[in-house]
Order: sequence, then C-alpha cells, then structure tokens
Amino acid sequence: MTDTGHLEQDLEALLQIENFPPPASFAEHARIHDRSVHEAAAADPVAWWAEQAKALDWFTEPTTALDDSNPPFYTWFKGGTLNASYNAVDRHVLAGNGDRVAFHWHGEEGEQRAVTYADLHRDVQRAANALKARGIGKGDVVGIFLPMIPEVVVAMLACARIGAPHNVVFGGFSAESVHERMEVSEAKALITVDSARRKGKTAPVKTTVDDVMGSLDTLETIFVVQHGGGDCPMQDGRDVFWGDALAAADDECEAEPLDAEHPLFILYSSGSTAKPKGIQHTTGGYLTGVAWTHKHVFDLRPEEDVYWCSADVGWITGHSYIVYGPLMNGTTSVMFEGAPDYPHKGIWWELCEQYGVTLFYTAPTAIRACMKWGADLPAQHDLSKLRLLGSVGEPINPKAWLWYHKVIGGERCPIVDTWWQTETGHIMITTLPGAQYGKPGSAGTPLPGVYAAIVDPDSGEEVPDGTQGLLTLTRPWPGMLRTLFGDDDRYVSTYWEKFGPQTYFVGDASKRDADDGYVWVIGRVDDVLNVSGHRMSTAEIESAIVSHGKVAESAVIGQTDEDTGQAVCAFVTLEGDLEGTPDLEAEIREHVAQRIGKLARPKRIVWADDLPKTRSGKIMRRLLKDIAEGRALGDVTTLRDPGVMQQLQGKIAEAQ
Ligand code: WTA
Repeated sequence: MTDTGHLEQDLEALLQIENFPPPASFAEHARIHDRSVHEAAAADPVAWWAEQAKALDWFTEPTTALDDSNPPFYTWFKGGTLNASYNAVDRHVLAGNGDRVAFHWHGEEGEQRAVTYADLHRDVQRAANALKARGIGKGDVVGIFLPMIPEVVVAMLACARIGAPHNVVFGGFSAESVHERMEVSEAKALITVDSARRKGKTAPVKTTVDDVMGSLDTLETIFVVQHGGGDCPMQDGRDVFWGDALAAADDECEAEPLDAEHPLFILYSSGSTAKPKGIQHTTGGYLTGVAWTHKHVFDLRPEEDVYWCSADVGWITGHSYIVYGPLMNGTTSVMFEGAPDYPHKGIWWELCEQYGVTLFYTAPTAIRACMKWGADLPAQHDLSKLRLLGSVGEPINPKAWLWYHKVIGGERCPIVDTWWQTETGHIMITTLPGAQYGKPGSAGTPLPGVYAAIVDPDSGEEVPDGTQGLLTLTRPWPGMLRTLFGDDDRYVSTYWEKFGPQTYFVGDASKRDADDGYVWVIGRVDDVLNVSGHRMSTAEIESAIVSHGKVAESAVIGQTDEDTGQAVCAFVTLEGDLEGTPDLEAEIREHVAQRIGKLARPKRIVWADDLPKTRSGKIMRRLLKDIAEGRALGDVTTLRDPGVMQQLQGKIAEAQ
C-alpha cells in the first residue's frame, strides 16, 4: 500500500476518536493545567480581567475596571493611561531584552532580516517623529496599505505612539477600496509602498493608489516605503519616501500617555450592507485581551518559543496575533512576505524547520490546500520543534483537523481552534491547551472571563444543548469593539438591538454539546461570506457587479466549497437582450477585482433571466444557495414568480 493509502487509513481511524487530551509531555509544562482559571474568573469576571490588565505597563493605574452604566457603550479601565507602542517595545528594551528578535522576516525571494526589539524601538520613534513632522497628531487617522514587511509593524506602532488611530487595509484590496476607507475615515495620511511582490511578480501599488487619491481633501501626505522597485512618481509637497522621512527624523520620541479608551485603530470589515463597517478598538481593554489570550491560548514562553501566525497584518488576526498580542508578550515571531506555494509548496515547512518554529497558527483553508499538495512535502522537513498548532477564521472540518494533528503536529501538538471576530478583538472560544482536550470541529469553551449563550432566534431564550441556535455573548469583555467609526447608531442596530443592549449578537449559528459545553460554530447567519477565512459581504460584491454597465441585477451567495469553505457565486441578469458570454464573465470578474479586490471575484457566474424575489421585492438568496448546491428547494410559495426557479434550475443543469 502507498503512504497515501496508509495516511487515509490512519485518518479514518482517528476519526473515531472524539477527544484528544494534551500529551502528558505538553500538559506537564503548560502554563495552565486545569479549569481553575475558568472558575477563578467566574467568581468575579470584571475583577479577574482587572487583574489581567496588570500585565501591561500603565502610566496611570485605572480607577474603574468596567463602566457599564450606559450599555452598549461599555468602557474598560477608565482613569488609566498607557501607550501601546511603549508596551510593545520600550518595556522589553528597558528590561534588557533589546537584543531579542521580534521578527524573523523572510522575503519572497529568500531575503532574511532579523528585527530586534531594539531595532523596533529606534524605528518606531523615528517614524513617530516623521508623522509628527507632517502635522499628524493625536486623534488623526492614518491609513496603512502595505505588504507583509517589517515596516508595517513600525508604521502601526508609530501611529500608536502618538495616538493616531491606524486604519490598515489588507494588501489584496483594490485601490478603490483603499480610497473608500480613507475617505470615510477622513484619513490625514496614507503609508503605502512603491510596489508589492507576489509569487515572483511585482505589481505597482503607488501608481494605482495615485489614480484614486487625488480627490481626497483630507489626505495631506502619502508616505512611500521603497520595497518592490519600479516606477514610482512622487507628487511634490504631498509624497515622501518613508526611508527619507525616518532618516531625517530624530530618534527619540516619548510615548504619549493615552487614555485607556483612546482609539488604537479602526479596521474595516464586511457587514450585511455594501458599506464596510469601521470597527473601532481602544487601547487598554484591547491590549489586555490580546496579551492574555496570546500568552495562555498559545501557552507562550517568550524566552524559548518561536511563533508564527501565517495571517496577513491587514486582517484582525494580523493586528491581534502578529502585532499586538505577540509584542505585548515579548515574543519572537516569524513574518513571511509570500504565499504558501511560492517559491514552492513546501515553503512553510521549510521555514518552520529553518527558524525552529514551535507555535504555528493558520487557517483551515490553508490546511486543506496543504492536504491537497500532499503529506510528503511537510515530511521532507524537520518539524519536531513544533509543540502547538492553532486554527482560525472558519470552522475546521474534522478531516483537516486530523491531518493537521497527524502530519504537521506529529500527534504530539495540541490544536487550539480559536473562534473570534474582528469585533471581539481577541480569541473568545477555544481550549486552553494544557487543561482541555481538543475535539475536532468544535472550537471548545468560552475562555475565562468570556460568557456565551446559544439562543433561539425569535424568543432569545437559550436553546437546549445539542440544538442549533444563534451565538451570543452575554457579558462585556475588555477587547470588545466600542463602536463603528462615526456611526454609533449602526453599532447599536447591528449588534445590540436583536436581543437588547446587554447581549452581543454575533451573527453565527452554533450549538453546544451537553456533556462538556463545547461549542460548534456552524457559520454566518447574515449576508456575510467567509471565503478562505476572509470575510466579505454579499451586498458589497453585488453592488460592484451591478456597477458594470451591462449588468441589470445581481445576487451573490456563498456556495459551499471544499477548498475555500465558501466560494463567491453570482447570479447575474443582464441589461436588455444581452447574452452572457465567457468574455463578459471575465469582464465582470475583472470589474469586481477593480472595485473591491481580487479576493472578491466570483468563482462562478450564473446568467439568469430573473432572480427569485418575494412579493415585496426581496431577493431570496436562500433559494439560490439551494439550487447552486443542488439541494431540494425550500418553500417557494412566497415568491412573486415561482417560475423563476425552474428557469434557474434549467440553467444550472445545462452548465453541469
Ligand atoms: C468565523 C476572524 C468557526 C465566524 C478572526 C466569525 C470561525 C467570523 C472561527 C469572523 C472558528 C472565525 N470556527 N468559525 N475558529 N473563527 N470564524 O471578523 O463566522 O474576519 O463570525 O475574524 O469568522 O471573521 P473575522
């Protein structure tokens, strides 16, 4: 029998096992061995979180832990002042750890840079002075549109040092998306790059950004990091090379003492309307949450571990678990510029071996891709230093969990399946790896200090264990979002209206096991898609598609996809008598790439004469999902024209 045959058989056998307790060798040395921390937190969650906040260096100690007098506008650690960049960098340098590597950066073409805490300390201060020199100060929003290079961390921390909230846009988004996010956040500056490298090619960034930025009145400065090379015209008076600005800047800049509730950043995320939501996080609570969870969920030993989170800094996972969480704890991390399959499909495992990675955190979609590429690629590398694995972004199917456990973890590494959201700021539901067993497919239990309930969508009452309901969070937590930038009303209506101002509406369906309280997160219940762990809005993609001149109407759904979890599938009706052609399909995909970014391009386009609508004109995406996935149709009696469905079914059958 081939090795692949053996592996299949082994995985089948493992599928019979329900629980995977931590190996004794791991549990013995783990930071937490039992549930006593959960119990301690339960005795007084607010006091418990206040205790965890002491892990940070405060300039002034907080006087109040939680202020819940005006729900859902909760505040944490009032009276306290601190600075995120001071906590991320200065205090480690002051403690004598300046020589410790913060990031082993590895470039696409194999370049290596070891960035120490002392390096960060110098560069962050210079960068903060460079921002100040351009008139940027406390409260001014600064956009960041950079690839995975150390400068992105320096830029974020420089903003934090002077109290300028950063607004990072994921490098895969289009210039138009950057423009929209800069416009709505009234950004005063943007830090970007000449060009970005991707799988051996270089794509211009500055010139594409230039095409759309001219119209922004508030944007006074564009800083340009020189990285990929190529054409990079600079506008006199507005544009500055980042390197020049840092070289000219003084290398001392005191960290500004900021109120615990001072906004640290906004990060735009997709919601159920076309307009992205500017999720706003503050300083003291957020940092408390990321510091505690990073240390305990990953069982971190900063002096010994080498940690690698494969996410991009442009998503919340990157903010919390590449930048702030790891730096709060003085971690040594790997930062990789490239894609998992460039220059070859074994690059991740090569890097794990090269840097001696001990803690590895990635997304199920990446694990599924690696499964496809075969177990022989990781087998070529020494992964014996790995001692813990993490998963984030979407539910992990048991088969992928077991492959991760066996092939990457060598059956000796606990897996933490971490459930959380951009809004929650940090991990909320998972297992503490030395204290709780892993259960493939279930994220685990709410962390200490976190309280969840699964409720009936109509009554809001808790559903019995084992029954599917809506996931809610029932107590405020320090890292929670505070509002949506400039839109308190939308903050209230999106999260706190359905079940009242004390119950946070998550937007995920889930169920809980009776015996151990483990939560299974099933997926979104709103019009939010999850493609490869990236969050996107159906409405946003639809509005990009209909802005194409030949399109009359569109409905987008997330079709179940074995590689990417969900894939974008668009039903499109064309203007007049136009016929759908492969060329037009390509044109529409490119149009979406321009408007939003390549990641939002539909994988599949179905030409439709009409879309299923209720009598009041609402598109019934649920029915479209049923036909796209080949299921029996649900109730069609509420449709204005039930005949539409037959026509669409015919189309789908034709295409297959
Ligand atoms: C989904 C990413 C199941 C969920 C950190 C959530 C998950 C949305 C998991 C948030 C997980 C995230 N198991 N589902 N471990 N982690 N999700 O804001 O639907 O990009 O609501 O944050 O991803 O996506 P976001």
